[in-house]
Amino acid sequence: MPFELPKDLSITWFGHATFLVQLPSGRRLLIDPWISGNPSTPDDKKDTGAVDLMLITHGHGDHIGDAATIAKKTGCTIAAVPEISAYLGKKGVDENKVSPMNKGGTVRFDDLDLTVTMTLAFHTGGINDGNEVLYGGEPGGFVVTLDSGFAFYHAGDTCVFSDMSLIAELYRPSLAFLPIGDRFTMGPREAAKAATLLSTVRAIIPMHYGTFPMLTGTPDALKEELVNAGAITQVIAMQPGQTLRG
Ligand code: NI
Ligand code: MN
Repeated sequence: MPFELPKDLSITWFGHATFLVQLPSGRRLLIDPWISGNPSTPDDKKDTGAVDLMLITHGHGDHIGDAATIAKKTGCTIAAVPEISAYLGKKGVDENKVSPMNKGGTVRFDDLDLTVTMTLAFHTGGINDGNEVLYGGEPGGFVVTLDSGFAFYHAGDTCVFSDMSLIAELYRPSLAFLPIGDRFTMGPREAAKAATLLSTVRAIIPMHYGTFPMLTGTPDALKEELVNAGAITQVIAMQPGQTLRG
């Protein structure tokens, strides 16, 4: 069965790992906000508009770059590990808006009719702050589960790991945002293996590639590796600035 987005749900890719998901209720979820300095984001897409909830996978600048600015501007709630939550507090984000969590935890956001689960990721997590590198806690990923049953997985920055099969077993996402750029994360070969471990996932939206010349993985290479891996998972290659609508 081909993958279909739920009716009235839309996904906008700002390039790299930054996605805005608008729910059927009109509520808006922003993941890994890096926009102002993101070379992939088209000039006419530099403003996210309203945001209700922000999810942050880890403290690297290409995931957290605009977090404080957008949080202050929109008044959104933020879900992140305690270390990043505390860092954003120091940057002037309202403490009451921060919802700290950690891996294995599931938090319900009643006003959005969904739950957020923080998942494992293997990567590093320092925060560059001026001349210093601060401890930003460990990186994670997220599964977002709507009350309607639709669930998607944003892997964050990670290598492939066999416990991705547990993520599928426990949370049953049908859509996954997977990094494919290589060098700092999975490349296409590892992402194809991830697709076989994520047995409930019908479609992959590739991310974290093409932003810089160093990030060499491509959606075409992923498609080829999926064939090699015997996987039938669909690849939805978005353009930066594009919105997919259900
Ligand atoms: Ni990173
Ligand atoms: Mn990154």
